[in-house]
Amino acid sequence: MNILGDISCEEFLNEYWQKKPLLIRNAFPDFEPPVNPDDIAGLALEEDVESRILIEDPSNQSWQVQHGPFTEESFAELPKENWTLLVQAVDQWIPEFADLLEQFRFIPTWRKDDLMVSFAPKGGSVGPHYDLYDVFLVQGMGQRTWQVGPKCSESDATVDDVPVKILKSMQTDHEWVLNPGDMLYLPPSYAHHGVAVNDCMTFSVGFRAPSEADVLQGFTDHLASQLTNDQRYTDPTLKDASAAPALIDDDAIERFSQILQEKINQKDQLKIWLAQYMTEPKYEDLHEPLEEELEWLDIDNLFQEAQQLTQNETSRWAYFKDDNQVSLFINGQAQPFKQTPTTQTLAEHLANERHTATQEILSYLTDPDCQKLLLDLINGNHLYFED
Ligand code: SIN
Ligand code: CO
Repeated sequence: MNILGDISCEEFLNEYWQKKPLLIRNAFPDFEPPVNPDDIAGLALEEDVESRILIEDPSNQSWQVQHGPFTEESFAELPKENWTLLVQAVDQWIPEFADLLEQFRFIPTWRKDDLMVSFAPKGGSVGPHYDLYDVFLVQGMGQRTWQVGPKCSESDATVDDVPVKILKSMQTDHEWVLNPGDMLYLPPSYAHHGVAVNDCMTFSVGFRAPSEADVLQGFTDHLASQLTNDQRYTDPTLKDASAAPALIDDDAIERFSQILQEKINQKDQLKIWLAQYMTEPKYEDLHEPLEEELEWLDIDNLFQEAQQLTQNETSRWAYFKDDNQVSLFINGQAQPFKQTPTTQTLAEHLANERHTATQEILSYLTDPDCQKLLLDLINGNHLYFED
């Protein structure tokens, strides 16, 4: 299925991705949402689920925000109109949403943040705003009017004294009413304002991009953690300083600059840090390894009985490749395995595919190194069997 309608993936990436908004009518033809509003409200009652309710009083432009977990009573007390319930990372709770994200695999999976579901009755909105990330807004149920404006920046004024970032004014360049299955792509920083026409669910597929400050800080922390205290600034070529002993001269600056450049230019370290960083879980405590470790004999027959092996919804996978090595990372940790051409092919496949048909990997099962890799991934709860 091509969710980009008439547009090819290449055209989308060249013309629109990170460049300009795009409306795709009927991106998901005959769309059947995997949930109804009650399911979403039910998730918002759960302790481990991140959720918010925004209530707008349109008479005086005031906003109220409440954070979950909610109770049945909190929902009973809501006004009839003009509010929105937002539930984050629903793809980690409802496997059908993780499957929906598969449709976006033309973007690297390590760029994915989460799938957020919103429910709003008529008039519900989160106000005119901009996000710092790319987002695909899929209309799940009902209708929503989207106004899309120009690219914004921190200098654009936001409303004072409200608990959410809302633009004081927003120019509208496009206005579209989205029906179920329609999808709107927005690059980072474009102003947008979506108002529910009737009971409406929107599924936001959000991507993440670390700030340059995070990259610099994260990578230098990673490098610094490997240095010893005796690795220090040295100046064996020092010249007589007595004419101006307080001066930090160009030679000194050059020596410091060299320390930094030598360290920062270590691409091998950058790969490791990046794979760790980009696979860090959104919610650290949500993922648990299996309580009781299994042996190969416990699972051997499951490869015959179960249809597929599925990536756990709470596991983030990524890998990089060097000449003779596939370095696999899951949830911020390296996943070591004996490197052979066979295990490498298997590791790449398992990292790239959310579902692997068990029939497809039967030939690997007689290889003891592949058995060990599969067993470790199953014990780590990164893969599970599905009928
Ligand atoms: C919504 O679903 O109401 C808001 C999504 C967004 O604007 O990012
Ligand atoms: Co937004």
